[in-house]
Amino acid sequence: MSFPHYVKMVEVGPRDGLQNEPQMISAAVKIDFINRLSETGLSVIEATSFVSPQWIPQLADHAAVFQGIHKKAGVCYPVLVPNLTGLQNAVAVGVKDIAVFTSPSQQFNQHNIHCSVEESLERIAQILAAAAKQGLRVRGYLSCVLGCPYEGKMAPQKVAALAEQLINLGCYEISLGDTIGVGTPLAVVQMLGAVIEKMPVEKLAVHFHDTYGQALANIYAALETGVAVIDSSVAGLGGCPYAKGASGNVASEDVLYLLNGMGIETRVDLSKLIGVGRFITHQLGKKPQSKVNNATGSN
Ligand code: HMG
Ligand code: MG
Repeated sequence: MSFPHYVKMVEVGPRDGLQNEPQMISAAVKIDFINRLSETGLSVIEATSFVSPQWIPQLADHAAVFQGIHKKAGVCYPVLVPNLTGLQNAVAVGVKDIAVFTSPSQQFNQHNIHCSVEESLERIAQILAAAAKQGLRVRGYLSCVLGCPYEGKMAPQKVAALAEQLINLGCYEISLGDTIGVGTPLAVVQMLGAVIEKMPVEKLAVHFHDTYGQALANIYAALETGVAVIDSSVAGLGGCPYAKGASGNVASEDVLYLLNGMGIETRVDLSKLIGVGRFITHQLGKKPQSKVNNATGSN
């Protein structure tokens, strides 16, 4: 299999990054952050999440943020939705693209969304039925596809079976999440191999957290398998509450540097992305967790 000619970069910093940053920032700064991301050439920017503010207080301002951002033509601004309440709140402010999430790990689901895998599928089926009536596009996320903080290694067949269920329920794409960043390239290839037996590779995205510094190697392995959608977070924002010392998502700047070096088209401007990484980390009072960002000048 040859490498894809074009990769769609899905920027998850405003959601997955900021949900894990201990420091709270204002809705105005988040809006400025997303508007700046919109000027980099990115075509998908996950804007926020309509989950319970009791569990994710960092994104409690989801409605104000979504309403405040400038929706640039040609850019999608999906939001995470855990249940019908979240869907209703999202639709009320004009959301058109949503993402649902579950995991093959029973225990991870109990900790994250307080229900079993089966119950999560019932919730997702309800969301998808309501979303279809309103013409929304729905992406599906699976967490802990390479390892779980509670259950350890995850069987590729389990991941593949659940991914197939999400596709059958109506998701247009499945993002396979290495939530705690424990995967290595051969495990990625095995997991993707099992999933690709159930669905075309065009329906798959990969979502790596970089806890053990394996994310770029894992992305290279996924590209070789034919995956052409990659989630990342500018400046490597975020962390993971379930893995001690964990870093956030792989940094978008580092992913883009890799893709540029491989001659893979993305339509994203690296210097603009570096600038946005510096802007948001300055707001958070930290340094970018991006090798490329730190190598290209003082912050
Ligand atoms: P719950 O507390 O278990 O149960 O929430 P509930 O449904 O009984 O609700 C309790 C209260 O929350 C009620 O209010 C509800 O109205 C309210 P009260 O009556 O007590 O005043 N509520 C809501 N409020 C606002 N928005 C909502 C909502 N739903 C209920 N949508 C629930 C269950 C799933 C909602 C909760 O556990 C939750 O929000 N969890 C979110 C967890 C989360 O966001 N995790 C991070 C995202 S997943 C991720 O990061 C992984 C990913 O990046 C991929 C990867 O890396 O693997 C995607
Ligand atoms: Mg994540």
